[in-house]
Amino acid sequence: MLDEFSVEVSGHSERRYIAGMEQIVHLRRPIGRPKGRGVDPAARERLAQLLTGLAPQRELLIECLHRIQDAEHHLSAPMLAALAETLRMSQAEVFEVATFYHHFDVVGAGQTPPLPLTVRVCDSLSCALQGAEALAERLESALQGRARVQRVPCIGRCAQAPAVVVDRHPVAPASEQRVLDAVAQDLRDCEPPAVTDLAVAVNAGSYARLLRCLRGEIDRESVFDQLDRAGLRGLGGAGFPTGRKWRTVASQPGPRLMAVNADEGEPGTFKDRHWLETAPHRVLEGVLIAAWAVGAKGCWIYLRDEYAGVRALLEPLVAAIGPWLETVWPDSVDSPRPALHLSRGAGAYVCGEESAMIESIEGRRGTPRLRPPYVAQVGLFGRPTLVNNPETLYWASVILEKGAPWYAAQGRRGRTGLRSFSVSGRVRDPGVKLAPAGISLRELIDEHCGGMAAGHVLFGYLPGGASGGILPASLADEPLDFDTLAPHGAFVGSCAVIVLSQFDRARDAAANLMRFFRHESCGQCTPCRAGTARAQQLIGAPLWDAPLLAELSQAMRDASICGLGQAAPNPVDSVLRFFPDEVSR
Ligand SMILES: Cc1cc2nc3c(=O)[nH]c(=O)nc-3n(C[C@H](O)[C@H](O)[C@H](O)COP(=O)(O)O)c2cc1C
Ligand code: SF4
Ligand code: FES
Repeated sequence: MLDEFSVEVSGHSERRYIAGMEQIVHLRRPIGRPKGRGVDPAARERLAQLLTGLAPQRELLIECLHRIQDAEHHLSAPMLAALAETLRMSQAEVFEVATFYHHFDVVGAGQTPPLPLTVRVCDSLSCALQGAEALAERLESALQGRARVQRVPCIGRCAQAPAVVVDRHPVAPASEQRVLDAVAQDLRDCEPPAVTDLAVAVNAGSYARLLRCLRGEIDRESVFDQLDRAGLRGLGGAGFPTGRKWRTVASQPGPRLMAVNADEGEPGTFKDRHWLETAPHRVLEGVLIAAWAVGAKGCWIYLRDEYAGVRALLEPLVAAIGPWLETVWPDSVDSPRPALHLSRGAGAYVCGEESAMIESIEGRRGTPRLRPPYVAQVGLFGRPTLVNNPETLYWASVILEKGAPWYAAQGRRGRTGLRSFSVSGRVRDPGVKLAPAGISLRELIDEHCGGMAAGHVLFGYLPGGASGGILPASLADEPLDFDTLAPHGAFVGSCAVIVLSQFDRARDAAANLMRFFRHESCGQCTPCRAGTARAQQLIGAPLWDAPLLAELSQAMRDASICGLGQAAPNPVDSVLRFFPDEVSR
């Protein structure tokens, strides 16, 4: 990493060298001597130890904060002051980034640091259905004085609800006893799943499609064409046609960059973790093919902090890929050999929004940017950037192997392709279910999930996690795919299906989801910041003020900057539309 980055600062501009590219960035205010409190020499020395091997670059601010938080379990004012000095930033900037992310505990002068051990109990919908709240209460009293118990949003283990993490060690499904055992046994880490070594995988043919591209046996246009013919659409939620996106980025002036969005924070979604854990070489081949196709000089994989096991799995692979690529990929202007980086999130759902993710990779607060310009034109470090979800890249590799007609033929009811549904809630066998696009919920439950859980009868479902609305059982025969649920005010997004039964109420689900959106709103725009707070208050009443809520939803939809605020009213609107008996006399 040391060779990849360097920054020279003078007056109002910053000259950056990123992955060998020079870039002048004009700053809003001149950089001078960092302002704020004086730096404690002991903190300076401690920081130097903790940052060993890490370049003192602004882009690495979040990684620097992780190093301190991991070692000290909080961020003290003296350490933040020392960090600001090291990175030549103002203390205010360091402070505003550190306080933005949920996984950093900033402790001011005179404040008591949290206990060194944090136990996180997921209280998002799938876990709430399985008694997360009662579990959190029991753990709070059982662990008093030994650990801090935090209620947190979805940690991507919804099929094993309720899910808990002890430091980085997942306990799922969790019971009070299992969590107490993990604490007593000092289990703190997440063991990475077994993975084939890069060299072994290459020999076994795992990167065969990439090598064909590099040898000139496949050209870029035919790759774009195959993705178009396959009908592959982005699986991060928005469903944008992948071939068209790759072509657009490839046509932008170079140098171009790429980012892989492995933030996977949508409550109910865990399919990216599945693919990264079970088929990392396939995903990485997709990443490299995409980088080759758009001519990206650098690629950042942005991984959510909750996926410590995936991080442990990817770190050695990413480190091994650079030297291997040097042997098979001649670096040229037409086909730059990409430098691969792994970027660690810090607990903020909004960073899954692509422009917020880019801000976060650059070491800033994860606040979404206004568009246009789109990230395909002005993205990471101001360069045209391809952003894709890991599953999209997985399928790109498979399509190049099996052919576009094979993928296109997989759908049901005229839809194309396969989808990895993350199914949780009241079914007998939850998990990642690979099923044809256009399958109905009833078929998904019967054919892939072993039916409803014992004693449960289908009452409703969420087709697309927290954002995609709530539908009644009467719509269980609708095809699940992009666009098709729009007439019902719903969408599949990243295909996170949460199934509700006669023991659940849609209004409780909506209340859980609105609390999530309020917690995760970045606060940048008023319709979302104030709207989620007001909506949460309004839906707490036994009877809902439907006209006022409708007006509020419209304002949020029309005036929020990003998809978080625009989609936040969906569950409330669904309750008013499909479950009015729950909220009116
Ligand atoms: C609030 C919010 C959260 C998002 N979270 C994710 C995420 O965790 N992973 C993801 O791939 N896309 C997420 N997206 C969608 C991305 O902005 C973007 O469309 C996607 O990463 C593009 O990749 P694709 O074309 O392969 O789907 C999110 C969007 C919004 C508005
Ligand atoms: S809609 Fe919400 S999350 Fe998105 S930019 Fe506005 S305040 Fe931030
Ligand atoms: S892990 Fe709890 S809802 Fe996803």
